[in-house]
Amino acid sequence: MPVAEITRAVGVDLGTSTIKIVCGDQQYKIPSVIGSPNPGWAGLVQDKSLLNNLIIEDSRGQDVYIGELARLQSEIRKSLASEGKMKSIDNSLLALKAILSLTMQSNYEQFVVATGVPIATGVEESKTLSKGLKGTHDIKVKNDATGEVKEMKILVEQVLVAPEPYGTYWHTLRSSGVKTAVDSIIVDIGHGTTDILCMYKGSMMRAASGSIEEATDSLTSALSRAIQEKAGKIIRPFDLMTAIEQGKRTVLVGGKALDIGSAIDQAVVSIADIIVDESNRLLNNLPPDAWIEKVIVCGGGSYTFGKYLKQAFFDANIVKSFEEVLVPENAVMSNALGFEMIATTKLTKK
Ligand SMILES: Nc1ncnc2c1ncn2[C@@H]1O[C@H](COP(=O)(O)OP(=O)(O)OP(=O)(O)O)[C@@H](O)[C@H]1O
Ligand SMILES: [Mg+2]
Repeated sequence: MPVAEITRAVGVDLGTSTIKIVCGDQQYKIPSVIGSPNPGWAGLVQDKSLLNNLIIEDSRGQDVYIGELARLQSEIRKSLASEGKMKSIDNSLLALKAILSLTMQSNYEQFVVATGVPIATGVEESKTLSKGLKGTHDIKVKNDATGEVKEMKILVEQVLVAPEPYGTYWHTLRSSGVKTAVDSIIVDIGHGTTDILCMYKGSMMRAASGSIEEATDSLTSALSRAIQEKAGKIIRPFDLMTAIEQGKRTVLVGGKALDIGSAIDQAVVSIADIIVDESNRLLNNLPPDAWIEKVIVCGGGSYTFGKYLKQAFFDANIVKSFEEVLVPENAVMSNALGFEMIATTKLTKK
């Protein structure tokens, strides 16, 4: 009887606002937050999914809320990353284990994990993350809504850690059938940071990569200030996010519709210009024979800034035609999708 060893490839993107995970046809997104337990009225919630009601037991046997549950219910919440870096490796590891549990189909499984971390994360931190995740782990998760407890064991055979945009670089080249390395810049516009990664002859160029705080969050903050000036009402930037995601150009403020269209356009132009300026500055650190053939714009911010950025990268002479600026089809998941592809290559090599 043929006996096959089953190891699954997992791609992760540890973003500052959301963690993304891809494993085969499973894809999940959870807020990058963990928090203290705050039990109560659990049985009555409508959404009983483990994804949105995720609790993991830490090494001291304490419950820790993960993702959406922490965001909504915890009194003390900790972000896993800020200012373009991971904050606590222990907390990130705990969240990663909890997320891995979502993909499990039985109570023992083996994985190869490739994960993206914010670009400003140090080498030591990346090593600690990789060391901490490798090996066997006993995981105990609980669904806060149903009380159901699952205990499982995982073996993480290999861990690869790289800057987040590297996932999109890989995914974009592989999905377009390109076999050779192409000198490129990958601009990943997230919620709180924009990461810029330069690739030269297939290598990630450290001196030509970096991160800035201008991102989608800067747009909602600018709009919030504009609304306050115009209507004298305070709308939190966070509450404007849904309007931006839905492409709305009017919002309801104090019972009156307010046109925010031109305020959006203005803010988009100035934020996109900062992103292009920073890319230009970083490009100066590439060797003189580098030839940028592709600018790849990804992250949730590509939906808002992508169109203007095409023009701006062209105007700045970084690309020779609009076609050289690519936006992946699934710009929010593209890092995680690429990392899953990278993890898969380790499976076939075994
Ligand atoms: N379809 C959409 N249209 C416009 N904006 C969107 C859309 N989808 C997501 N966003 C915005 O993109 C941001 C999230 O993007 P993304 O998931 O790439 O961030 P992140 O990776 O968690 O953050 P960071 O890169 O800062 O670590 C949010 O601000 C969200 O409002
Ligand atoms: Mg991101």
